[in-house]
Amino acid sequence: MPKREIKKYTDANREAWNEATLKHQQARAKKNNNLKEKFSQKGFSTLDKYETAKLKEIDLAGKKVAQVCCNNGQETLSLVNLGAESAVGFDISDEAIKEARELAKISGLNCEFVRTDIYDIGAEYYDSFDLIYITIGAMGWMPDLNKYFKVVSKMLRAGGHLMIYEHHSFCDLLARDGEDEFDPDDPLKIVHSYFRTEPWVGNDGIDYIGGTKYESKTSYDFTHTTSNIINSIINNGIILKEFTEYSHDISTEFAEHENEGKIPLSYILIGVKD
Ligand SMILES: C[S@@+](CC[C@H](N)C(=O)[O-])C[C@H]1O[C@@H](n2cnc3c(N)ncnc32)[C@H](O)[C@@H]1O
Repeated sequence: MPKREIKKYTDANREAWNEATLKHQQARAKKNNNLKEKFSQKGFSTLDKYETAKLKEIDLAGKKVAQVCCNNGQETLSLVNLGAESAVGFDISDEAIKEARELAKISGLNCEFVRTDIYDIGAEYYDSFDLIYITIGAMGWMPDLNKYFKVVSKMLRAGGHLMIYEHHSFCDLLARDGEDEFDPDDPLKIVHSYFRTEPWVGNDGIDYIGGTKYESKTSYDFTHTTSNIINSIINNGIILKEFTEYSHDISTEFAEHENEGKIPLSYILIGVKD
């Protein structure tokens, strides 16, 4: 995709994410989920047992790690609490980075946060990291996955790890509760194309914390097939080491399917830079 077109989408998403981040902060306050208090305690982590186990296998000790699309930095900070030497979180949202910097200050952890479009990350961060971490809800915002992993690969040192913990591409075939196509009697009905290339245009907000809908700034997100994800990674010099699919939901949108164990809802992918 041409750079100008990528920018059209990512500039709009910056505004939409600034707006959404304020909603998330309000929702956390309502739920009494005080991240400042949590990160003032030693060793606090928001990472679940699946990702924590894989990170322990990779072994974070002495490693310089980065998270791309880090939002408010809760996972980036958790990586340092799990043993990484230092971490850098990158995100396009001004509000999310502001919150991340506050949490870093309170925690006293060796963590830096950079507000940037991932597509604009430059040479000062190339060959810099032993692990790049990407988690739930990040890749869908990327208009061009090949260019995204080109940047990620450049940021990694040779032998460095890429770890992704994301919602499974299969989820994009289903309607979410609240969508016109959602059928409560048949929630597993396939309603969307797996091969959709046009963006999803959002105007009712991105409040997955409070669950509210609001007339929002326009956001754009994208469906990515599993083969597109894998090919974008290996085409950029990262060797695939592991791809594990799970039936548990990490998006909060498909939790009702978890117990059935019928469909893949999430996955962990691990690669190593050649
Ligand atoms: C769903 S959040 C990731 C949440 C994270 N897993 C967590 O739980 O904190 C997606 C993030 O991607 C960021 N984002 C979207 N497009 C981006 C871009 N082009 N460059 C950098 N960050 C971007 C948004 O600002 C948002 O903070």
